[in-house]
Amino acid sequence: MKAVFLEAPGSIGIRDMAEPIYEAGMALIKVRAAGICGSDIAAYRGTNPLVTYPRIIGHEIAGEIIRIGDNPKGLKEGGRVILDPYLYCGKCYPCSLGRTNCCETLRVIGVHVDGGMRGYMLYPQNMLIPVPDGIEWEHIPLAEPLTIALHAIHRTRLKAGEHVVINGAGAIGVLTAMCAKAYGAIPIITDLVEERLEFAKENGIPFAINPLANDPMKIISDITNGRMAEVVVEASGAGGAIRAALDMVSYAGRIALTGWPREETSLPTGMITKKEIDIYGSRTSAGEFEEALMLLSSGKVDAPAILSKVISMDGIPAIVAEQSAHPERYLKVNALI
Ligand SMILES: NC(=O)c1ccc[n+]([C@@H]2O[C@H](COP(=O)([O-])OP(=O)(O)OC[C@H]3O[C@@H](n4cnc5c(N)ncnc54)[C@H](O)[C@@H]3O)[C@@H](O)[C@H]2O)c1
Ligand SMILES: [Zn+2]
Ligand SMILES: [Zn+2]
Repeated sequence: MKAVFLEAPGSIGIRDMAEPIYEAGMALIKVRAAGICGSDIAAYRGTNPLVTYPRIIGHEIAGEIIRIGDNPKGLKEGGRVILDPYLYCGKCYPCSLGRTNCCETLRVIGVHVDGGMRGYMLYPQNMLIPVPDGIEWEHIPLAEPLTIALHAIHRTRLKAGEHVVINGAGAIGVLTAMCAKAYGAIPIITDLVEERLEFAKENGIPFAINPLANDPMKIISDITNGRMAEVVVEASGAGGAIRAALDMVSYAGRIALTGWPREETSLPTGMITKKEIDIYGSRTSAGEFEEALMLLSSGKVDAPAILSKVISMDGIPAIVAEQSAHPERYLKVNALI
């Protein structure tokens, strides 16, 4: 079989490898579709310290079950599944709370262990989620970034009628805004790149602000009648946007920190006390794939709209290199494997 292989940072190609052999307790999957994510680009660039090399990349993976034994979920050969890529220990404190996404020894496929951009994969049965009918193969991997968006929404308990400022109109920010709308909330998205704001507006996000051109605090205040946003989701990783979240949020408001910052940001913590702000870390997802797949299959969230392109497996190395050099070029690229 073929696999998309990173020998080392900056060195990506397709390699021939032996197919995995079925083992009891696992499922043998024929991979059918994969999403290219910012973290695959970071693995290529060598900027994610968690990635070890050599590595098969890819954690947004959908496929067909080729072989599986008896299993509690009733998964069958021929069934379509998406892989939950966050492998947890099940024993540590966060795992004991069901918060397996922040397991002390979390291993993510494509990062800590080999990922799914390859012909076949052996995967634990309990980490497979059945996919409802009616979703195209190339759209199924979008359920993974959708779970990231849903996790931020769940962490902050976003409700219908509330305003949510989302900093960053990348794939994660736009999906968060789409999910917020599906929840009946009012999303306000910010980005420094005009094209990304235009895209958000064209896709039904009612408010899009460029902080370089306008004063976001004034606009958010006008939209919310002076209250400011009940919820802010930080989905840029930029220090300035993290700092700004404290001004954008209302008194008694909630903030989710989803973006991975590269550096430390200093914050006026007195403002957190004064406004009594709840700040939540929001990492990956736990038990949120079913909802993401439901939003996709029902069309309640038009996640396929964020796809800039669908390519074949052979095209992955070139597009990963291109996305690394020109991150603004594509919002999201998926591949049929
Ligand atoms: N917590 C998690 O589990 C998780 C999962 C996936 C991605 N992430 C992180 O979420 C963030 C978003 O991911 P993505 O794939 O959408 O990335 P992306 O790079 O496509 O999007 C980030 C966007 O933020 C914008 N931006 C930069 N500075 C800004 C500022 N000051 N104000 C407003 N916008 C600004 C950029 O122009 C870009 O459009 C990244 O930091 C990524 O590492 C976290
Ligand atoms: Zn991803
Ligand atoms: Zn654990």
